[in-house]
Amino acid sequence: MLFPSSLRGAELERIGVVGLGTMGTGIVQVCAEAGFEVVAFDVDSEIASRSISRAREGILRRIEKGRISREEGNASIGRIAVGKDFSSLSGCFLVIEAVFERKDVKAEALGSISDVVGQDTVIATNTSSISITFLSRNTKHPENFIGMHFFNPVPVMPLVEVVRGLLTSDAAFSTAVSVSEKMGKKAVEAKDYPGFVSNRILMPMINEAIFALMEGIADREGIDSVMKLGMNHPMGPLELADFIGLDVCLDIMNVLFAGFGDPKYRPAPLLVNMVNAGKLGRKSGEGFYRY
Ligand code: CAA
Repeated sequence: MLFPSSLRGAELERIGVVGLGTMGTGIVQVCAEAGFEVVAFDVDSEIASRSISRAREGILRRIEKGRISREEGNASIGRIAVGKDFSSLSGCFLVIEAVFERKDVKAEALGSISDVVGQDTVIATNTSSISITFLSRNTKHPENFIGMHFFNPVPVMPLVEVVRGLLTSDAAFSTAVSVSEKMGKKAVEAKDYPGFVSNRILMPMINEAIFALMEGIADREGIDSVMKLGMNHPMGPLELADFIGLDVCLDIMNVLFAGFGDPKYRPAPLLVNMVNAGKLGRKSGEGFYRY
């Protein structure tokens, strides 16, 4: 692995994860299972303890299914510690930020992380669509800042989209790739343009499915069946939109629309209406389907 030269020995073992929602929890689990010590931190201590329990449960399930040995699983669980504040992150060679996907929330978290870590620590953001170069302005060392975009459910999806900002160094890129590979994931490099690769392609497909539903071309089951049975997708686009969150889908379409200024990225009016109605998908109990 190519790591920052000023970091040696035990410090190379420790990764910080900040923001312990669904994505952060999954990242904690895969970091621990990859053999890293993990400092898991959330400003809300209740969210943090719930997240740690979920990460542990995820590992225990893998023991029960025989995917890993009990010893390996227990060792992974033993590598997870809860950080009590931002300063707990000070000994990490990499901190992965996975807080709420809003520019102001990310800016504040990144500023706090940057204040406590060493000058060679790589800070990665799990943003799905905010510009890496834009977010790097909140860190003291933008050359050590990078995007590591994970996919839900993190323990299952074998991809990390590694996004270089305009100022990201080769050393930071190499660290992100090495860590992704140690997690057993394929790292794919993408440049810092709206939606990167993943959401540049995925979201317009989902948006088009919503237009198709709005125009009555087929019903929701029909649209999802076409993509599942005809294209072998594991979930249909409407089911996947519910899984991701319709508010997240709308935010990403707005990033594409604003970033490219091209009307082909306009969000479907039905998507806007659904979000305004509070129908956000699985997390709110109803989206295109009821849960
Ligand atoms: N957490 C952890 N593991 C999970 C899980 C979860 N939430 N959901 C399923 N799994 C595991 C199961 O335990 C099972 O593991 P084993 O093989 O070890 O037994 C495996 O995944 C398969 O699960 P199931 O048999 O229960 O269900 P399935 O075959 O229907 O798969 C799925 C479920 C993996 C979610 C599948 O439907 C799928 O791949 N869907 C598409 C998911 C996707 O596209 N994700 C990306 C969304 S985009 C994103 O995240 C980023 C963005 O920027 C918007």
